[in-house]
Order: sequence, then C-alpha cells, then structure tokens
Amino acid sequence: MKRSFAILTLSVFCHYAFAQEPVHVMNIDMKGQVKTISPEMYGIFFEDINFGADGGLYAELVKNRSFEFPNSFVGWTPFGLVSVEDEDPCFERNPHYVRITNDGRRLRAGIQNEGFRGIGLEAGKEYRLTAYARAVDGKPATLKAELVAADGYNGDYGVYAQVEGREWHKITMNLTSPFTDCHGKLRIILESQGTIEMDHISLFPAQTWKGRENGLRKDLAQALADLRPGFFRFPGGCIIEGNSLDTRYEWKKSVGPVENRPLNENRWNHVFKHRAAPDYFQSTGMGFYEMFLLAEDMGAAPLPVISCGMACQFESKEVVPLDELGPYIQDAVDLIEFANGDVSTTWGKVRAEMGHPEPFGLKYLAIGNEQWGPGYVERLEKFMKEIRKVHPEITLIGSSGPFPEDEHFKYLWPEMKRLGVDMVDEHYYMEPDWFFSNADRYDSYDRKGPKVFAGEFAAHDYTNDRGNSFLSALAEAAFMTGLERNADIVRLATYAPLLGHAEAWQWSPDLIWFNNLEVLKTANYYVQKMYSENRGNEVLEMTLDGKAVTGQEGLYATAARDSKTGETIIKIVNASDARKNIRIGIDGLKKRQGITSCRRIYMQSDDLNVMNTFGNETVTPQEEQVEASGKALDLSLEPYSFSIYRLTL
Ligand code: AHR
Repeated sequence: MKRSFAILTLSVFCHYAFAQEPVHVMNIDMKGQVKTISPEMYGIFFEDINFGADGGLYAELVKNRSFEFPNSFVGWTPFGLVSVEDEDPCFERNPHYVRITNDGRRLRAGIQNEGFRGIGLEAGKEYRLTAYARAVDGKPATLKAELVAADGYNGDYGVYAQVEGREWHKITMNLTSPFTDCHGKLRIILESQGTIEMDHISLFPAQTWKGRENGLRKDLAQALADLRPGFFRFPGGCIIEGNSLDTRYEWKKSVGPVENRPLNENRWNHVFKHRAAPDYFQSTGMGFYEMFLLAEDMGAAPLPVISCGMACQFESKEVVPLDELGPYIQDAVDLIEFANGDVSTTWGKVRAEMGHPEPFGLKYLAIGNEQWGPGYVERLEKFMKEIRKVHPEITLIGSSGPFPEDEHFKYLWPEMKRLGVDMVDEHYYMEPDWFFSNADRYDSYDRKGPKVFAGEFAAHDYTNDRGNSFLSALAEAAFMTGLERNADIVRLATYAPLLGHAEAWQWSPDLIWFNNLEVLKTANYYVQKMYSENRGNEVLEMTLDGKAVTGQEGLYATAARDSKTGETIIKIVNASDARKNIRIGIDGLKKRQGITSCRRIYMQSDDLNVMNTFGNETVTPQEEQVEASGKALDLSLEPYSFSIYRLTL
C-alpha cells in the first residue's frame, strides 16, 4: 500500500508511567487565544447522483411515473393494448399519459413498473398507490393493483379500485406487501372491458420520514439526521450546472404541485461511460421545497447552490451571454424570497401554499458550483451586485474551481478576494496521502480574506478501487483536525457525495450506501458523525514540541472546548502502524482544577483496507470510560485509530 505519512523525528521522548515505551508530550493551552467554531461547521451535501433522489432518499417507488421519459415506456412493461397519449392531458407540464384497453378478447391488459433497480417491499408493510385516471367511454372500469416479487409471485393478493367518469380524478389504493423482496414490481391491470387513461402513477411506503406525503425514505433520512448536520447543501454539485444550460437545475420548476413539475435529464446519466445509467432522470418530486423542509427537520441551515449561467465546464461549456444573465439573477433573488419572504410576496405565497407559511431562514447562497476562469468571475460579479443591493444579509459563496491547488484555484482565490465574496468553496477529491499531508493546509491561510467552505471532499483510495476503506476514513479524520484547528477561517465542511445506490451508482466513494431495503454506513460516515457530535465551540491551542500536531510521528490532533457542558474535547488520530503513548498536559488550569472524568469515543482497525458492508458494519465507533485525574491525560493509542476524548475538568 502506498503511504508516506509526513513523519518528523523531532518529538520529545520522555518516560512516564508507560512501560518502556517512548511518550509523546502534547500540551493544551486553556488560556491561549480562542477561535470560535461555527455551530454549523459540519454539514451534509445532497446531490441527485448515484440515484440519490429518485430511487433513493425520495421515497417514490415508481420510475417514470408520468410517462415523460423520452422513451415513454422506460421502466414500464405494457401488456395487452397499451399506448402513450398526450391529448387533453391531466398535467400541462407533464402532458403524457397511458391509455389501456381491455377489448374483452384478451384476458387482461395493463402495465407493470420495475421501480429503481426493483421496488423494495417488506412483508406486512403498507404501500400507497395513487394515480389520476379517467374512463374514456364514461363507463365505470375496474382496476386491480398487485405487488409482484422478482420471480413473478404476487402472493395471491391484489387491491381493486373503480375508475368512474370521463374527467380526470385521483384514485388511491392501499396495498400490504405479502412478501419481502428487494426487487419487487408494481402491476396494474384493467380487469373490466373498456378503455381507461392514467397518469402520475405513484407508489410510496405509507411510512415516510416524519409521515409526510410525497415524503422521504425513512431509514435514509434518519441516517442523515443522525449526523446532526449543521448545514445542508443542495441540490448540487454539477446537477445545478447541467450538461447543457437547458438541463441545469431550475429551482422554480421543482416547486408547486408535484404532478406538474417537469422532468429533467439527470446530468449523471451518461457522463461516466463505464457506469452509464440511461434511465436516470430527475422527477424533482424532491424539489427545493422538500429540501428546505429536510434541512429544517434536521435542524440544519439550508445552503442552496444555483446556476450562474454556465453549464458544466467539463461538458458542453455553454454560457449565457453577460447581457442575458437577468433571468438567472432574478431566479437567485426569487429563491431568497421563496425561502424567507413574507406570505404576501409572490414566492413567499408559493411556499405558504405548499404548507410552510413560516420562512425557512435562508442565510447562505452559493453562486455556481465548480466554475472557473474569467467567465465565472464576470458572471459572479453581476450576481453579487444585484443580490447585495436587495439582500445584503445573505452570505454569498463563490467557487475556487474543481481542484484544490491547480491554476484555476490560484487564479480564482485572489479574484474572490477582490470581489469580496463571503466564503470560497473548495473541493478536494484526492488520495489519502494528500489528506494526511494537508492537515496543516489552513494553518497559514490569510485571515483577512473570505472564509473557507470545504464544500466537497473525500479521500479516494485507489488501492481499494475508490472504495470506502478504513484508510480513507482515517485520512479524512486526520485532515479534519486541520479544519477544526482553523475553524476561525474554515467555517463549513462537508463530505461528498452523500448517497450511493449499490446497484445504480456512478461515483464512489460515497458516505452512505443503500439498496432498496437496507442502509450501509461507511467508516467515513462515522468519522463525520464523530466530528459533528463532538464539535465544541472554541478551538484550544494544542501542540507537540510547540507546534500544531499535523503528522509528526503519524499523529494528528486538535482540541476544543464545549462551553455549554464545560468539557474539553480532544480529537486525535494515530495513523501510524505503532501504538503511541502520549501525555497531554493541560496548561492554564487553576490550582485545584484537574480532570475528573474522561470518556473516549473511537474507531480502530488493524486492517486499513477493511470496508463496512451491508449487514456487517465492522468499523463503527466504540465508547469507553478512561481513568484519568490530575492535570495531564495519559493515553496509549492503538495503531490506525481515531479517538475523541471528552474531559470534564
Ligand atoms: O460530488 C460529485 C461531484 O463532484 C459534484 O457534483 C461536483 O461538484 C464534483 O465534481
């Protein structure tokens, strides 16, 4: 395995209580200059990549529910006389619908949906089927709905409904699954003779996150909420740019009645030829409203990203001429109104009509994703000028390009300073070595310019096929000591991407993997969770031989204070293959002050290649009480470990 941790040999070796082993002496200065840690520091970034929304977090189980895919029958198997029509539609912006005729000579006619790599069904659980339908000849028609297992078995079970009259109307059927199957199907059969038309055929589990209609998959949403994210960045990523301008994410098309939100191509459907997903489109059923709501449910500050008038610069490179940017800027201004505006405003009213009269409390707005070059700077400047005029209270975030140290990055940072953006979004998808050797990246950053938003990062372990190895998690944990130590300048940080469907992904590694029935939390997930749950609000100076602990002897560390609980929180990574004995002296305590209790939360594995798998999460955080007293903490750290110590003084 290729690893070259920056190992310095300068550390002081002393001999304390530890048997014959050298001891590294670190110090925490309780009285030194204190930097504040943002309460929103550790967040999550959601993008519809890897079937993260449709087929993932969005609980809809039917693919192509509105028959709007360019090929109308993608996801559907028609049987009998079935066609797709668009005359006199039910939904203006999704005009296609299906016509099913049972001519009496065939036994049955209908359609079957395959879901997103199958439909996840659980025995005894309830599912709600809704659809809009009309009987073409006006005669009542009988429909049957069945849940079907991968092998075709339907459990001798089905639910019936009547379609009555020539007008479009909504029908609802509640089904209980007779079996558990990760790759089930939904079958709808016209049982009576005649012709019916149907649209927006939708199947949701009756139980969604917070019990919401048009809601989210419960287990996945819970996994996100368990991270206790401080902020929630959405909906992209490259998704907001689009491969071309006409497929960019337009937030206005993602709000209002869900049935009438137009379909959009998913930018990730064919970008990676080796993982192409030609059936990947965005229903935007989980649109901006739902994402604001999720942020609120999790107690996270919403951080939307919007198009700056540039399509993906790796793809079409299409740009909006500078003098035609007006509508794009207006979209940004209107988004602030949608989130925060009074119900009497145009967009505040739309939000209220969707069920949320209270504002969402938007504070952050990112303009563009991974843009670069003078073309970006010119556009960003125009956006900033107009937004600042009407909303000076919003924190505006600019880009530093797709890479952490290339020529785009070097060009953009000074430009971001010149424009006076509030935060610069940095992305790093690098090998574990880079993360280990960049733990000091922000120690020397200019404190006078914009703050840093570590908007997308993940250690890509090529020795493990870019899987979620323990090595990658350890590298991220080590690097994040540097984010936290520099929390005065690094205000927000998030791993990326968040979700990956095990049978439909394009990008790896991902924080959470899932299939149609299960959720798998990676070691990387637990690193983020450990940071988020043990944040503290003030950085304390922590040193080894008078220097920040940034890889000496394979050790990385930072300390913080939680002034609410009074605890001191130490995060420490031992990335070496040897046990490390460490004495942490706590300087600046009052005469009678000392450690009264110490709790340790840690992850460790001797195998750096190990990965959590479905049903077998081998690397998870463990907890123990540590015996400690006096003014120093003696630790004996296992090789390849990430530990958090919470001390009460
Ligand atoms: O996280 C996956 C992609 O990586 C994001 O969409 C993009 O911003 C970056 O290139």
